[in-house]
Amino acid sequence: MRSLILTATVLAAASGSAHALDAAAAIELAKANGCYSCHANQEKVVGPAYASVAAKYKDDKDAAASLAQSIQNGSKGKWGRIPMPAHPGMSAADIKTLAQWVLTIQ
Ligand code: HEC
Repeated sequence: MRSLILTATVLAAASGSAHALDAAAAIELAKANGCYSCHANQEKVVGPAYASVAAKYKDDKDAAASLAQSIQNGSKGKWGRIPMPAHPGMSAADIKTLAQWVLTIQ
């Protein structure tokens, strides 16, 4: 049973489908990678609230890809004066999961 759940999580991360996104796994990823030291879902902290990010890009079909770029390479000038550092140590699959998950936050 446990291996089935793990397989489902891995498939969700790899498939790129928003429908297969596992929110609980994404939250664990965000915690493990320090995202919540600068972000919260509803309030601006150092970086923008994830709900604000999702609202800003809601009509942008390429948003998941462009947010993944921002997470991987860092971002500056889109939200204010403080830049987001790059996350060079994260896998592409994890970054994609987080980018898709941020877009689901309301
Ligand atoms: C050191 C603080 C810091 C950390 C750690 C951090 N962020 Fe950010 N993040 C920011 C700031 C500041 C911005 C706004 C950058 C800008 O204005 O372009 C931002 C912007 C973003 C955006 C919007 C990018 C865009 O293109 O509009 C997303 C999505 C995001 N962060 C996700 C994440 C995720 C996921 C993590 C964890 C892997 C993370 N952040 C870790 C500070 C941080």
